[in-house]
Amino acid sequence: MEQLKGLILSGGKGTRLRPITYTSAKQLVPVANKPVLFYAIESMAAAGIREVGIIIAPETGGEIREAAGDGERFGVEITYIEQDAPLGLAHAVLTAEAFLGGDPFVMYLGDNLLQGGIDDLVSAFRANAPEALILLTPVPDPQNYGVAELDGDGRIARLVEKPAQPASDLALVGVYMFTARIHDAAKAIKPSGRGELEITDAIQWLVDAEATVESHVVRGWWKDTGRLDDMLEANRLILERVERRIDGELEHSQIDGRVIVEAGAVLERSTVRGPAIVGAGARLTDAYIGPYTAVGRHCVVESAEVEHSILLEGSSVRGLDGRMESSLLGRNVHIGRSTRQPRAYRFMVGDSSEIEIL
Ligand code: TTP
Repeated sequence: MEQLKGLILSGGKGTRLRPITYTSAKQLVPVANKPVLFYAIESMAAAGIREVGIIIAPETGGEIREAAGDGERFGVEITYIEQDAPLGLAHAVLTAEAFLGGDPFVMYLGDNLLQGGIDDLVSAFRANAPEALILLTPVPDPQNYGVAELDGDGRIARLVEKPAQPASDLALVGVYMFTARIHDAAKAIKPSGRGELEITDAIQWLVDAEATVESHVVRGWWKDTGRLDDMLEANRLILERVERRIDGELEHSQIDGRVIVEAGAVLERSTVRGPAIVGAGARLTDAYIGPYTAVGRHCVVESAEVEHSILLEGSSVRGLDGRMESSLLGRNVHIGRSTRQPRAYRFMVGDSSEIEIL
């Protein structure tokens, strides 16, 4: 078989994760203190893929290049491919045509997480040699996804992007395998109602051309981290499997359960209840960190309680009466108590931010 390549889609607009995505790529938001994108690169490396192309947008591409580099530390060789505008997943495939050439490839959406990696998928693709292999998973809200309709024999009859009346609850997972025939499909289709070249339409074109399109229902969980709640859920799922490791300094502090405290973190009179992670250089003082919390590097939590939240690098939370939960703080965000008069709430908040107070 030809060389199997990897294609990770890390462009896009990320409108659903504003304001975080005004200044940063959503694929770099950390899940358990590691950028979402790195999980995709690692699963490709684990499946024996060496050549990985990453689609980037002009606005956030620089930051992604800086974070993932040439791929050496993952054991892969990364080629960055700039997509001028986010014109759809099939448009991203066309943009990568020169990199992909005639080779088969795994396509992975850079903001998706797939438990269990892609080894089984790659083996099935190698063994059965279909033109395309797609993954499906039952979801409670199929109208928000690409949905597959199967015929009596379990073969794909039809694929529809975000159908108003879904014919099944089987959503397309953001990991796909293709042969070079997908290029013909992507060239043949027209933009959808939302102006994008849809990958579902390209796969439908293959089905109509009687190409073999195999589908598998995933066994583990799959998460698209495009929205805040999904991001928190992904963080929860990944933290579920961390092993306890305490490399930081503890002073009169207590750690319950599966918690990672990275080297250089300092905890004073604090309690951390796992699963949770406290990043390098973070400082917790008179704090409580509850389950499913990822405290980024160099964050400060002082006289406050934080649970089920993600704090990006350099943020701080100080002196809160109530517990902060289900929150995502960007980089260098500061939340605290003021002692000045008159006593009043005081904010400096960017566009599209959301704040809920007691
Ligand atoms: P989406 O999450 O579907 O799109 P988006 O990033 O524009 O986000 P939103 O809907 O919130 O505005 O994209 C899935 C993944 O594919 C994501 O990692 C971005 C990437 N992508 C591209 O690289 N190029 C594209 O043209 C599109 C549409 C997405």
